[in-house]
Amino acid sequence: MELPGRLAALAIHVPAGSVLADIGTDHALLPVFLLKNGICPRAIATELNNGPFLAAEEAIGQSGLKELIETRQGDGLQVLRPGEAQVIVIAGMGGNTIRGILAGAPQVLERVERLVLQPMADAGDLRLWLCQNGWKIADEVLVEENGRVYVVIVAEHGLEATADPLLLELGPRLLENRDPLLKFHLEKVVMDYRRALSGLAKSGSSAAREKALLLREKEAKIERLFNCLQP
Ligand SMILES: C[S@@+](CC[C@H](N)C(=O)[O-])C[C@H]1O[C@@H](n2cnc3c(N)ncnc32)[C@H](O)[C@@H]1O
Repeated sequence: MELPGRLAALAIHVPAGSVLADIGTDHALLPVFLLKNGICPRAIATELNNGPFLAAEEAIGQSGLKELIETRQGDGLQVLRPGEAQVIVIAGMGGNTIRGILAGAPQVLERVERLVLQPMADAGDLRLWLCQNGWKIADEVLVEENGRVYVVIVAEHGLEATADPLLLELGPRLLENRDPLLKFHLEKVVMDYRRALSGLAKSGSSAAREKALLLREKEAKIERLFNCLQP
């Protein structure tokens, strides 16, 4: 069984021997892969919604791993008890949804060793929350699947060295590691800024002018960063 690129990038960040909780597991591909390959001894696969919960139960039943992958239905980390999982994966949701899920269960997070997160948007807000709540960005990677680039953020307990909000928005480890997809990532950020700027230009309000100024400053900083990154 092979995982598609995005899920494979999550799987390689789950340390061997750790008990996994996959929050919002949907098809349960990730826990089934990790158990089948002997990477995790046990897993908890959770879902909020009925359809994906039933899909997860069916996939796990078909995999023959029902004894080792427990399914639980409920909201975020509310279905976990502290100490049950060493690694939590939350993937395929918005960054602010992930942030809300994490913020809702501090006692569970205290006993977790590693978070493997894949936000679909607002990764900067998520990184900022992590750093303000005792987590450091241990690693980050960009992965391409079907023409779309996703970010995987690995967080562990500790103090994040990067405080600059723009670097947190872009991904401090992506920049330090010169991720192979970094150029594509930065170009997309700049394109998003430009789209926002053309929207702001239509408004004459002083708030819109201030926001536009901030975006132009950030764009100029990214261009300088970009030039530093050229070989
Ligand atoms: C786009 S799917 C991603 C599935 C899988 N994690 C992946 O990355 O391929 C998002 C899943 O998260 C579930 N979900 C959304 N909010 C949730 C929450 N608060 N708690 C648990 N599951 C949630 C949805 O029902 C959906 O199945």
